[in-house]
Amino acid sequence: MPSNEIIKLIEQIIDKKTNQSLKELEAIKRVSILTNKVVDVEIILPSLDYADEIKRGIAKIVKIDLEYPGLKINIKQDETLKELEKANNQTIKYLAIASGKGGVGKSTVAANIAYAFRRLGKRVGIIDVDIYGASIPFVLNMEINPLDLDDEGKIIPANFEDIEIISTEFFVPRDKPLMWRAPIASQMTKMFFDSVSWHEKIDLVIIDMPPGTGDIAIDVRELVPKSDMIIVTTPNIAASNIAVKAGLGSKELGHNVIGVIENMSFYYNECSKEKDYLFGKGGGKLVAQKVGADLLAEIPISKIDNKDVIFDMSTIQGKTYLQIARSYIEKNNL
Ligand SMILES: Nc1ncnc2c1ncn2[C@@H]1O[C@H](COP(=O)(O)OP(=O)(O)OP(=O)(O)O)[C@@H](O)[C@H]1O
Ligand SMILES: [Mg+2]
Repeated sequence: MPSNEIIKLIEQIIDKKTNQSLKELEAIKRVSILTNKVVDVEIILPSLDYADEIKRGIAKIVKIDLEYPGLKINIKQDETLKELEKANNQTIKYLAIASGKGGVGKSTVAANIAYAFRRLGKRVGIIDVDIYGASIPFVLNMEINPLDLDDEGKIIPANFEDIEIISTEFFVPRDKPLMWRAPIASQMTKMFFDSVSWHEKIDLVIIDMPPGTGDIAIDVRELVPKSDMIIVTTPNIAASNIAVKAGLGSKELGHNVIGVIENMSFYYNECSKEKDYLFGKGGGKLVAQKVGADLLAEIPISKIDNKDVIFDMSTIQGKTYLQIARSYIEKNNL
């Protein structure tokens, strides 16, 4: 039997992944009959999910129905589609900002770090995962509008000065306290990680975590995909002990604590030209030692105007955040 007759039979086989025949998929690249009556078949498929089944179908036709003594099958996946699949499955890189105690400056740090990455030319997003105390939209003083969905039903994040932002604040009526029970809060959190349509070239998503070591914080730390994490603490030793707990707990859950930021470290006294350590000293160092990570920065206390939470690039704080972002980009090849 000439090889084109064999092709006519083989091309009827259906690939269950696409529900199309090998003919429709134009999958058969070659069928040749070698001198020793071995049939040599080459197939290229969009996906190899049902490759074994297709192999069995070909073997039945060639060896049982047509009684050829030998068969060689080479099934490969289409290289272009393989690349595309890889690009679609590309996992998002997350950097979480966490703390033990509330009010230590997580959201301020998260927003400033996001700006630092943006200033260095990276595409970044922020997830405000602090379900019961959303703050990123307030920190940035941004207008709050409901979010749209894309064609696949994924949430399109808000865009603020080229930073993409997701927060519960976009899903609740304004000024109403959030009274969600834990399962709804978990569902919302899960959605932030599974169903957001980030820019296709997003480099990094910063997560503003809820404070604490309690139930909600643990829940969230379990729901957040394994991520890099920065622990924020104040210089006060008592407060730092709680930050240590948060750091060690996060490590236990598989997060990668990459460093510690000591916020509100000191006040630079313009008159005496000295640093005043108003809130104690050494907290950041202690946390870094105990969780086995670097102390990335000591950020001084400054007068923060509600409308001006993002430090200018020319300030010490602005430069420090840039340095943290730059070193992260280098280490992670971002
Ligand atoms: N370096 C700083 N100097 C002065 N004020 C600061 C500094 N960092 C943060 N703040 C102020 O401290 C307050 C708490 O900051 P922020 O909301 O970022 O903390 P948080 O840890 O996210 O709090 P929460 O636990 O409630 O989410 C804010 O008013 C913020 O402007
Ligand atoms: Mg906060």
